[in-house]
Amino acid sequence: MEDIVLELKNVNHWFGSGAKQNNVLYDLNLKIRAGQIVSLIGPSGCGKSVLLRAIVGTHPPREGHIIVHASDNVQSAIMKHKPGRDVGIVYQQYSLFPFLTAVQNVAFGLMLDQTNIPFRAFRPFKWRHLRKQHLAEAATLLERLKLKNAIHKYPSEMSGGMCQRVAIAQALIMKPMILLLDEPFGALDEATRTELQDMLLTLYAENNQTIQAGQRPPYTIIIVTHELNEAIRVGDRVIGLSMNWNWRKDHAIYPGTTIVYDKRAPIFLPEQEIDYAMLKKQKEEISHAVFDASFQQDRDEFRQFWSENKTGRSQDA
Ligand SMILES: Nc1ncnc2c1ncn2[C@@H]1O[C@H](COP(=O)(O)OP(=O)(O)OP(=O)(O)O)[C@@H](O)[C@H]1O
Ligand SMILES: [Mg+2]
Repeated sequence: MEDIVLELKNVNHWFGSGAKQNNVLYDLNLKIRAGQIVSLIGPSGCGKSVLLRAIVGTHPPREGHIIVHASDNVQSAIMKHKPGRDVGIVYQQYSLFPFLTAVQNVAFGLMLDQTNIPFRAFRPFKWRHLRKQHLAEAATLLERLKLKNAIHKYPSEMSGGMCQRVAIAQALIMKPMILLLDEPFGALDEATRTELQDMLLTLYAENNQTIQAGQRPPYTIIIVTHELNEAIRVGDRVIGLSMNWNWRKDHAIYPGTTIVYDKRAPIFLPEQEIDYAMLKKQKEEISHAVFDASFQQDRDEFRQFWSENKTGRSQDA
């Protein structure tokens, strides 16, 4: 059985009304498997961030459903109308508290999740004990993300890449079922960017180990990126969005962003050699389907993820 963790059904979103209505997302339908790293690409302004905000639940879509499946053996699903801890998000701009160290920043979410002000005020011994556990858990995670030396540093004492790693740790510590990354590496130089891509790939490798042990992989990630090399290198699936004119059931033509590309991508783990010819071919295909304004033909030509991968997981297919 497919282990689907996220499902979008007929999602529509627009801003404003009447003559000022700005149609953004049009009839998006999508299923994402547990353990996938999905790269989301599309021209600036097409609605990638709007989509992520809808998935995280802070700005639900005007129409349609976004469903997060709690686990593969749970029949019912959680309907997402409000933000919860099952989806985490990291924005391009570092979201760290400047007055907290790296480890305190990472432990912050656990504090909010597991305690409240009366508990911290009136159960000081229990709180101190719990706080120690939170900080230890945060420190372990930072070590895993190669930030051992930065554990007690403040954001102002860290580089952009380190801050972004801490921001990812902040989201990961809450163990979200889905992690959304909205252009997280956009502001970083090439070398730091590659380092952080490698970090994502180690999470992917952990997923594979978990799958081999017969368990649900812990990390399902959607990463928005403008960089096609990055999209193909870190994602095992690339989804391209583009603004289109769409024929509605009432025969009206309606503008809105739809999925124009959906295919598997090769994963190149840090120790693996990159197949540049393969990368180049897929880059050209994506540029054509997603960024070439004149391309409005057969939409299914590049939407083949599910027909290519009818059974099994994408990496085994
Ligand atoms: N709060 C808002 N109110 C009104 N319009 C909005 C709002 N947020 C986004 N939009 C509009 O929705 C559209 C999509 O915006 P969005 O930020 O999702 O683009 P994007 O694909 O993330 O672009 P970029 O790659 O530049 O980040 C744009 O036309 C934008 O003007
Ligand atoms: Mg955006």
